[in-house]
Amino acid sequence: MASNHLFILAIFFVLTVLPSISMATQHIVGDNKGWTINFDYQAWAKDKKFVVGDQLVFKYPVGVHNVFKVNGTGFQNCVVPPTNEALVTGNDKIVLATPGRKWYICGVGKHCVLGGQKLAITVTTPAPAPSSSSPSPSPSPWSAATVATTPVPSPSSSSSHWPAASTAGRLFKRLLINFH
Ligand SMILES: *[C@@H]1O[C@H](CO)[C@@H](O)[C@H](O)[C@H]1NC(C)=O
Repeated sequence: MASNHLFILAIFFVLTVLPSISMATQHIVGDNKGWTINFDYQAWAKDKKFVVGDQLVFKYPVGVHNVFKVNGTGFQNCVVPPTNEALVTGNDKIVLATPGRKWYICGVGKHCVLGGQKLAITVTTPAPAPSSSSPSPSPSPWSAATVATTPVPSPSSSSSHWPAASTAGRLFKRLLINFH
């Protein structure tokens, strides 16, 4: 029974947890060119699939560029947000936590306006794989657990009747002894 449960849990893990781990991708923005000016990031992003949980990595020499997350307007017009919102490590990793349109620009000089150092992507939910596999295995371990636990109360309640019966028997014996 115990090994059976472990087996079900192992299958559950393989079906639900592993796919979500293996599907997360790290995207090096601009590949070996990194985050720089005069690079077509729209072309770079065009054939890529960005899924929730994936990671963007902006690589550039520290101090030469930076990364700002902006909205659509900020992307369109190269509006640089306050300096304290900048990512400046030269190896900036951003986890794509939510689905939707995401925009990033460089806030140094005219890198965005003239250098085209801006990236727009669309992040999608990894819906098809987990949603199709999780509903089918998830009810079975739970129903198996309920089936396994339901018989337990009845033997324990009946076993509590047995000592009561034997004490009654012992009392009866004592009555008999007293009577004699
Ligand atoms: C875009 O962000 C700027 C600040 O960076 C803000 O003023 C503006 O209202 C935002 N636009 C939209 C459509 O959210």
